[in-house]
Amino acid sequence: MNSLESATQSAGARLIKRLAIMRRISQRSDWIERIIFSPASEEAAYKLKGWMDASGMETFNDPLTNVYGQRSFSKEGTEAPRIHLGSHYDTVVNAGAFDGILGVLIGIAVVEAIVESKHPFNHNLSVLAFCDEEGVRFNTTFLGSAYLTGLFKEEWLHKEDEYGKTLGEWLVDRAESIDMILNAYKTPYIRPQDVFLESHIEQGPILEKSNRALGVFINIAAQLRSEIILTGCAGHAGTIPASLRNDPLPVASEMVLAVNQMCKSDELIRATVGHLEVIPNASNVIPGTVKFSIDMRYPDLKGLKRVHDKLSQEIKSIANRSALKFEYKLVHEADDAQLDQRLTDILAESCEVMQGSSPRMFSGAGHDSMKVAQVCPASMLAVRCKDGLSHHPDEYASNADCILAFKAMLRAVLIIDKNF
Ligand code: GLV
Ligand code: MN
Ligand code: MN
Repeated sequence: MNSLESATQSAGARLIKRLAIMRRISQRSDWIERIIFSPASEEAAYKLKGWMDASGMETFNDPLTNVYGQRSFSKEGTEAPRIHLGSHYDTVVNAGAFDGILGVLIGIAVVEAIVESKHPFNHNLSVLAFCDEEGVRFNTTFLGSAYLTGLFKEEWLHKEDEYGKTLGEWLVDRAESIDMILNAYKTPYIRPQDVFLESHIEQGPILEKSNRALGVFINIAAQLRSEIILTGCAGHAGTIPASLRNDPLPVASEMVLAVNQMCKSDELIRATVGHLEVIPNASNVIPGTVKFSIDMRYPDLKGLKRVHDKLSQEIKSIANRSALKFEYKLVHEADDAQLDQRLTDILAESCEVMQGSSPRMFSGAGHDSMKVAQVCPASMLAVRCKDGLSHHPDEYASNADCILAFKAMLRAVLIIDKNF
């Protein structure tokens, strides 16, 4: 076994151990949940930084709680072009143990294999652990990657979490001044001269159906998220007859059905109500307010806006038939992303060497690569997950598939180092 093979073997074993460690870092004991700024998220960031430090990377934390590290191999110094590897370390609520974190840990393992084997390498190699891809706290996705690419928008500082605390207030609590925070993202760590490679579980069934552990994504669907608030009048459940109620819940239910109808109307449309709050949520009180989210996806943003407009018209006309106060806010928009063909071909070729062929797929799930692709070439390696299940506690990718993904990524990085 040569030194690269033996370093790969030990980095692969550490990758599997670290996946097990990370699955235990959660703000809840009954499920996995790591939301930006939670103690579990802090603990995860601390662990990731420790592993990056141990592999000889220079490491950084930013006020947003992104964690990143660089091992500088380039003769031109630390600012020379970077090959970035990584993904996000936050999770949804009741999450699986692979979404996001697998890509971060594969990034660290690639650096370890190259450093330990002393394999010749010429680029600066960087690992990115993004703090908020899922958008659970502020209902806006890709905060971490937006910050490190310089695409962060100052208006997001006013976004509130469910307790009414804004992102700006969270940041001021954590850093010296808001100016420092705003200046930092204006000299982005991820630049046009760099490249980014993200490993991620597929979150769908295609690889499993094609009996392949690995594949590549060639593009990623556009997304829109909206928030709807319906306000009526709370009251006594036992005394007020239907004709005198102004109950937002039956109206919200009609809207939820309209969202579901829209989703069923076309194989390409995804439309989901995943968050619904009934206030005050008591069995003997007529609801006073209902709030809910709509998450919509479509292969391209133009098509998505068309179906979104149709749905929002329908929702407005349902609201107009009631006496409720109605608020509809578009809270998040992400353009569809085309991934870089040259990088994707290299990743696909690595998969072919490992397993004979490499499915090329479309991703309906959102990824940090969508943000990063706006700044530099980006590409994604997809890893088979059982039953295509994700955003679910039973999300599962086998140890063998995770290690194969790491080896394919390592091989691709070595080729990119020679050819870019
Ligand atoms: C991220 O996981 C998303 O697609 O919502
Ligand atoms: Mn996710
Ligand atoms: Mn993810």
